[in-house]
Amino acid sequence: MIRLSERLEKIAGFISLGDKVADIGTDHGYIPIYLKQNGISSYIIAGDINKGPLEKMEENLDKHIPDHKDREGIIMRLGSGLDVIERGEVDTAVIAGMGGLLMEDILSADWEKTRSVKRFILQPRNAQDKLRKWLLENGFSIVDEILARESRFVWEILCVEHCESMDAKSKYFGTEDEQYEVGQHLIKKPDPLIREFISNKIGIERKISENAGRSDSADAVLQKKTAEDKIRMLEGIISNVNR
Ligand SMILES: C[S@@+](CC[C@H](N)C(=O)[O-])C[C@H]1O[C@@H](n2cnc3c(N)ncnc32)[C@H](O)[C@@H]1O
Repeated sequence: MIRLSERLEKIAGFISLGDKVADIGTDHGYIPIYLKQNGISSYIIAGDINKGPLEKMEENLDKHIPDHKDREGIIMRLGSGLDVIERGEVDTAVIAGMGGLLMEDILSADWEKTRSVKRFILQPRNAQDKLRKWLLENGFSIVDEILARESRFVWEILCVEHCESMDAKSKYFGTEDEQYEVGQHLIKKPDPLIREFISNKIGIERKISENAGRSDSADAVLQKKTAEDKIRMLEGIISNVNR
């Protein structure tokens, strides 16, 4: 049986038993292999824009599911984003390990197709605040979030569905900037990794502020102020996390 990293295991944890799944940007194919081996899904599209990753996935299939009969239902497709699925073909799509802005492009390329997928599990590598804002402004609801540690980083995993009433924002608290910066579900639970996650963010902003403080240029002064405002905001959030 394949063993997943904490990040991939938590992503897989958002997939409902029996769902038809697409793993967009599958790379190594670990999620499809795990879902099949554990009987979570019997129909999994593994898509990637590049040939190399799909060849790597083929090798991983040889290693973990050597009998071709046991691989039935895992379908590899070369292509960008949701191009690899038909409208209505899957219930859940995973998009993990890519930039938040690329995720916005993928989700907005064909709205009818995007709406035909009930749930998206998104694990952005960057621009998480921009992605949250975009999701809430474009008819999605962030139904849950979880943090996962992998190597030196703590990653955010968003479970996203279509919002029926278009008033997703009203369910959130805090200022707009706060709700985009740190997922509200992470604060409400609170997620066991939330303090470490916010402390890491504060550390990054302190470095930005220190570096900017070495120059008197108008840009540097603005950068320092922006970083200091963000530190105050993050410290405010951390102080509201229940112990
Ligand atoms: C860093 S890997 C992430 C792999 C895996 N999803 C994970 O989270 O461990 C990113 C993968 O996305 C693929 N990719 C990048 N842009 C893509 C796109 N527009 N559509 C589909 N796959 C894409 C890359 O080829 C690469 O295999």
